[in-house]
Amino acid sequence: MKPAVLFVCLGNICRSPLAEAAFRHAAKEVGLDVGIDSAGIGDWHIGQPPDLRAQAVARRHGIEISGYRGRQVSAADFRLFTHIVALDHDNLAALKRLRPKDATAELSLLLDHVAGRAGAAVADPYYGGEQEFALTWAEVAMGAAALAERIAKTA
Ligand code: 4NP
Repeated sequence: MKPAVLFVCLGNICRSPLAEAAFRHAAKEVGLDVGIDSAGIGDWHIGQPPDLRAQAVARRHGIEISGYRGRQVSAADFRLFTHIVALDHDNLAALKRLRPKDATAELSLLLDHVAGRAGAAVADPYYGGEQEFALTWAEVAMGAAALAERIAKTA
């Protein structure tokens, strides 16, 4: 099965679209043929573009994400994706509750893939400002690069 990675946060408008963007870039860098998407635990932002502050930080790094649209994670995702990657512990706990019996996807936290950061969360920047979004970008970029390298080694 071709690898496919789904990034999941609470709203799918800040952290997981940034993780998706960073991973699209990282996968290209290592020549990885992989499916990539992101989704939210909640349903508030279905069909909406990413938060303008997330769009801005991605654009500062040369990546356009204004065309992304929010969606909610579904039971089918646990069979369609090989890897489901949560941004924080609440997201991971929610995914474990949603996971159907026939799930095949491997669940992890994004920062589990970064040496020395296993078990750490990417903090929610929603109530923060530019600095928080800059930190989010730095963390998702690190996680995305490490995950792309790991999957490239096993794919
Ligand atoms: P995200 O941030 O989970 O990184 O997309 C949030 C976006 C929206 C909300 C919470 C977190 N919200 O409560 O609407």
